Amino acid sequence: MCGIVGYTGSRQAVPILLQGLTTLEYRGYDSAGVTLQTENGIRTIKTKGRIQALRDKIEAQGEIHSTCGIGHTRWATHGAPSDRNSHPHESMDGTIALVHNGIIENYLELRSMLTAEGVVFKSDTDSEVVAHLFARNYKGDGVAAMMDTCRQIRGSYALAVICRDHPDEMICTRHDNPLIVGLGEGSNMIASDIPAIMSITRRFIVVGDGEIVRVRPQGVEVFAKDGSPVEKEVQTVNWDIESAQKGGYDHFMIKEIMEQPKAVRDTISSRITDDLMPDLLEEGVGTELFRQIRNIHIVACGSAYYAGLAGKVAFERLARIPVLASVASEFRYSDPIIDSSDLCIVISQSGETADTLAALREAKARGATTVAVVNVLASSAAREADHVIYTWAGPEIAVATTKAYSAQLSVMYLLALTAARARGTLDDASIREYCRALRELPDQIGQVLACGDEMKALAQLYHGRNDAFFIGRGIDYMAAQEGSLKLKEIAYVHSEAYAGGELKHGPISLIEEGTPVVALACDAQLYEKQISNIQSVKARGAQVILITNGDFPIDEKICDHVVRIPRCPYFMAASLSILPIQFFAYYVGVFRGCDIDKPRNLAKSVTVE
Ligand code: G6P
Repeated sequence: MCGIVGYTGSRQAVPILLQGLTTLEYRGYDSAGVTLQTENGIRTIKTKGRIQALRDKIEAQGEIHSTCGIGHTRWATHGAPSDRNSHPHESMDGTIALVHNGIIENYLELRSMLTAEGVVFKSDTDSEVVAHLFARNYKGDGVAAMMDTCRQIRGSYALAVICRDHPDEMICTRHDNPLIVGLGEGSNMIASDIPAIMSITRRFIVVGDGEIVRVRPQGVEVFAKDGSPVEKEVQTVNWDIESAQKGGYDHFMIKEIMEQPKAVRDTISSRITDDLMPDLLEEGVGTELFRQIRNIHIVACGSAYYAGLAGKVAFERLARIPVLASVASEFRYSDPIIDSSDLCIVISQSGETADTLAALREAKARGATTVAVVNVLASSAAREADHVIYTWAGPEIAVATTKAYSAQLSVMYLLALTAARARGTLDDASIREYCRALRELPDQIGQVLACGDEMKALAQLYHGRNDAFFIGRGIDYMAAQEGSLKLKEIAYVHSEAYAGGELKHGPISLIEEGTPVVALACDAQLYEKQISNIQSVKARGAQVILITNGDFPIDEKICDHVVRIPRCPYFMAASLSILPIQFFAYYVGVFRGCDIDKPRNLAKSVTVE
């Protein structure tokens, strides 16, 4: 999961490439580099560190005149982050340069073949073999060389190459990794993601799996694997570049937290009819789909998986359909019991997560109907699933998701209500009542977002602690798991989420004087049970932050701090209870001096297994 960008046209390439790389930094940020076509051949500048380090290194070399180049921001897989492992990688004679996103699985085999032929490797990466292989295949035509190269490599990749003897040309391809081509006026770009092309255009095409593209200033040619030309549909970005920028906030994460009312409103508003019924017909997800199915599988990774767990609660309680929720990396190798009588819902912000895509393919291959809940337009999951339901959260840049998770939850509610209608498990009046509540959710989210300062104060109190617990029951347990993940991701605090009733079976032994416990109590049916669980940790010295929508009496035996949130139907409670926790994780991270938008060791879009 690295970021790739390339530019060819009449403008100076350096600022455009740097700008593009900055927007892609969320994809990887341990090193970065560019290769530029110059009067004196191709010139590569690369460095360990952030894009700023690259910018400084380029500036130190004086003005470089170039109107064509490729760039890369890396998230190390093969070979530690270092100058020499940074991309681009050049051929031995320095006439060809390449950037790669993904993993070349047979690189060791190829490396020994090339070494035997006299190639001397400069890096420890899997990617460098492709540069040498391409050079070996190159006889003057980049498209032909790329075709031959693709036949020899195995794995997942998006590749972009420039060759000295075609100074205004880029050759690229992709397999299981994203790549788009931005179409400007007399300039074109390639990139891993849309924000990177928006300095020159809003128009783009999505490169199909296995397609090879020749990009020149005056035009773009796309070829299928067999070399035949391919006509592509041109798409237009319908959001503004500002929505991919910080807009005055210190970090993307806090900006995205604050954008949640809009993300949820945009996601649901056109999908609830005037007479308050869920409507996903445009996505092809009508009541028919839910009438016949036996089971629902929900498959995803990270926060998307936790959104899926909340979805499970909604489906099971509203529509009485059994739901099996799995993390994608487990599902794909579990010989899953799924067939044409099942529905598989995959959830993914990026739509490019390798494990989630593999799970989607596995479910399809076994005959299941597939629905992808995806945020990124035209991403792989969106294209491959039978049905796609977009979350309209807008571009999410911070690695730790907030607004996309909230939008995913709201799609889960719409799906569960559609299923309940299909199965007749709820009458129309109840469905309308829930749809009305769903419509009110964005405003309620807005109200809860007023607790930012309160959570900041709590974060100040607890940011020095190295362990924390999150407890809840039912839907609260699902939100607790997402909350715990946020604290780990952003603030590097060891934290565990436990079902309230399960604490006594082991983890309660870890509760000591002062251990912070974030306790959720938002399901009226379970208040009393959860309060007993809370009392049991309080009695052992825990500092309890209670998040609740209940109006039961609260004293110091129950908690040290209480955060009150509005009431909503129980199955939607995660949409509100997660908000104070997002703030808490954010501010604990800020107080601990963490790199909020780019946490260590993480990447937003994990396109490797
Ligand atoms: C990475 C991110 C997580 C994210 C997960 C799934 O691990 O660090 O924050 O939840 O991928 O990403 P997706 O794009 O599939 O939702």
